[in-house]
Amino acid sequence: MKINIEKIQIDELIKQAKQAKKNSYCPYSKFPVGASVLTAKGKIYQGCNVENSSYGLTICAERAAVFNAVACGDREIVVLCVVSDDSKWITPCGACRQVIYEFGKNVLVIMVRKDGKIKKKQISFLLPDAFSL
Ligand code: THU
Repeated sequence: MKINIEKIQIDELIKQAKQAKKNSYCPYSKFPVGASVLTAKGKIYQGCNVENSSYGLTICAERAAVFNAVACGDREIVVLCVVSDDSKWITPCGACRQVIYEFGKNVLVIMVRKDGKIKKKQISFLLPDAFSL
């Protein structure tokens, strides 16, 4: 499914994901990540990775952004953008892919590299044969 996203919306999503990255709590990995999601209502929600001294309790930026939207009563996700300071593109982990899929079967995932280059993939491409009830 082809989704039409305006360049201006992509720019705003990247800006907000970078803003969220500033709030990342990552004293253990020192790997800040920021994410933003655009919902069908046209609203944008932010998320960052939040780590814990009990490492397994860490939440990724992507899930934090999705849960932020859901907590605000906005459940239909259209685009998710994720940024890090890595020279490679950051791609959502498997757990985040499943969570993204839950709230949008056609989500467009925009991945942003440190130098600003972007890569776009559909969630159905990133998570083929996703589980759903
Ligand atoms: N992390 C994310 O927030 N998103 C990803 O897509 C990959 C990894 C976080 C988890 C952890 O806080 C740090 O990056 C290093 O794995």
